[in-house]
Amino acid sequence: MAKAKGARMLEFPKIHDARGNLTFVEGTRHIPFDIKRAYWIYDVPGGESRGGHAYKKLEEVFVALSGSFDVVVDDGASTTRLHMNRSYLGLYVPNLLWRHLENFSTNAVCLILASMPYNEEDYLRNRQAFLKGGGRQE
Ligand code: TYD
Repeated sequence: MAKAKGARMLEFPKIHDARGNLTFVEGTRHIPFDIKRAYWIYDVPGGESRGGHAYKKLEEVFVALSGSFDVVVDDGASTTRLHMNRSYLGLYVPNLLWRHLENFSTNAVCLILASMPYNEEDYLRNRQAFLKGGGRQE
């Protein structure tokens, strides 16, 4: 089955010693854009899902800081489900990819790094309008 276009997994540096692990990221070095905003999703009740939209321009990276969840991305033609459960991995999701998050474990914390400040005008919340625009082509 074809994969949704454009999403890819990033592996971040992991500094391991007897005191535990440390992971860090720098915008444009480990993240493919200059980070303009960070937000996080937590305390998600069992069975709930988040997202369910695309963005016209915004690029994001999802990190499971704690626990696990699935990110489902869809370019309009193909859908890919990625299970996130490692805090040294990030999922890069470019613009024009429909996404939702589900299957949150208890105590899951999802960090999202974003390429632009919050702007409701950048959201594509209407699935039919997203498909009509052709989704993501490459
Ligand atoms: P939304 O993006 O719809 O949440 P999700 O995609 O995770 O399900 O945002 C939910 C609400 O939070 C909405 O009213 C907009 C607001 N919000 C901000 O004010 N700033 C932000 O950076 C984000 C991500 C959301």
